[in-house]
Amino acid sequence: MAEHSISRRNLIQRAGACGAAAAVGAASAQAAAPADPPREARQKSVLALKYPPLDQVRVGLIGMGGRGMSLMGNLLDIDKAVVTAVCDVVPERVAAAVARVKAKGQATPAGYSKNDTDYRSLCARDDVDIVYVATPWADHVPMAAAAMKAGKHVAIEVPAAITLQQCWDLVDTAERTQRHCMMLENCCYGEMEMLVMNMVRKGVLGQLTHAEAGYLHAFADGLLSNADSMVWRRRHLMESNGNLYPTHGLGPVALYMDVHGGDRFETLVSMSSCERSLSAARDRLPADDPRRKETYACGDVNTTLIKTALGRTIMVQFDIVTPRPYSRINLLCGTDGVFGDYPPRISLRGKSHQWESDLAPYVEKHGHPLWVRHKAQALKSGGHGGMDYLMNWRLVHCLLAGKPLDMTVYDAAAWSSVYPLSIASVASGSAPVRVPDFTRGQWKAPRPLLAGEA
Ligand SMILES: NC(=O)c1ccc[n+]([C@@H]2O[C@H](COP(=O)([O-])OP(=O)(O)OC[C@H]3O[C@@H](n4cnc5c(N)ncnc54)[C@H](O)[C@@H]3O)[C@@H](O)[C@H]2O)c1
Repeated sequence: MAEHSISRRNLIQRAGACGAAAAVGAASAQAAAPADPPREARQKSVLALKYPPLDQVRVGLIGMGGRGMSLMGNLLDIDKAVVTAVCDVVPERVAAAVARVKAKGQATPAGYSKNDTDYRSLCARDDVDIVYVATPWADHVPMAAAAMKAGKHVAIEVPAAITLQQCWDLVDTAERTQRHCMMLENCCYGEMEMLVMNMVRKGVLGQLTHAEAGYLHAFADGLLSNADSMVWRRRHLMESNGNLYPTHGLGPVALYMDVHGGDRFETLVSMSSCERSLSAARDRLPADDPRRKETYACGDVNTTLIKTALGRTIMVQFDIVTPRPYSRINLLCGTDGVFGDYPPRISLRGKSHQWESDLAPYVEKHGHPLWVRHKAQALKSGGHGGMDYLMNWRLVHCLLAGKPLDMTVYDAAAWSSVYPLSIASVASGSAPVRVPDFTRGQWKAPRPLLAGEA
């Protein structure tokens, strides 16, 4: 802990030294960007928001597609988590979800599938503590806002929001209603990510300067499927050119770097390659397929560079169409060491400057206590190698214990804001764009974080 505070203070001092050089670029970005809207008198910060402990956590889920069902599966494996209501516009999906809850021995949950606003009835129930939102991206914020206004906490799938206005709506609604609003960024709970988080907290990598993150998932042919989950995803690729899925790689890096606990994203620049791979996959469809008429706005590979207030840089990449093997990159540079992932490896100052690829000794020494304690159950319950279970377990645990949640609405807004801001930067020839300060000046104070906790 002491090492951590010292390194934070040093970094703030050093940031002052290199701040002048950064000021020119930052100033031009700020000139072009609107100032952050002031906080209304009826709003109050929700950093470190806490509620009294709950006896059980009653969950209502909206969106019982692939992701909603998977999240519900994890919740049903967690002691004292109870699914009381489910909602989807497709009645068969609601029926399947209800059957799965009953098969687990829980009481029959209420089902909502009347129309596309029936989720409001779920939000109005008095036997729901938290609403999970696992619907297509454009619906996340209206649903989350409805839930918070009905007095519920919310957990939203990624990205939480896809416009800047939506990012602010989330923040303002959470502050007005004083409700938890957490984005379900499961990758923050990956075994390697939590190992890195722990090593950072212990000072193993020294002072952090740079990170590289991304979402690389070779998926071009799959995206052309007629399944509705691919149809809405493809629509975004037809309409927008930028990083349309930033948070899986960026979320863990933001936690490593104490973003909203001493640092914040300040500006970004973004560049997209030309589009080729999805249209090539489209051209492999039969000549009379209606999808042959589609055109895609999003370049194959988007690369975004974020500069933080402490002068660190973060590269975030988005590529779901080239044949690159899966990776979230997860590379972190510090003054004393560098961690790289896919495959996991480390290089420490004073050693050979070759990657060490046997991480067993590091896992033994620095493995995160959450993983040490829950690994067997996480692997059994599953979901992306166990991290989905751990995320859900931890969310339920914090509500049961009356603790602040690991991630706040400010994280959801800032991490998701890369979606619209990268689009804006690409559209303006990669000009720097200011990232709003969603905390409205409260990003400097250290915050309680899951590092070290079990
Ligand atoms: N964190 C992860 O690893 C991960 C993985 C997959 C998907 N996701 C996210 O989860 C979300 C859902 O993705 P998916 O793959 O499950 O998509 P999906 O299309 O399979 O599921 C979305 C569901 O929402 C329902 N829905 C749509 N509008 C609705 C409305 N008005 N009211 C109620 N239900 C409505 C649809 O009928 C569908 O069943 C997305 O935000 C996606 O980015 C996250």
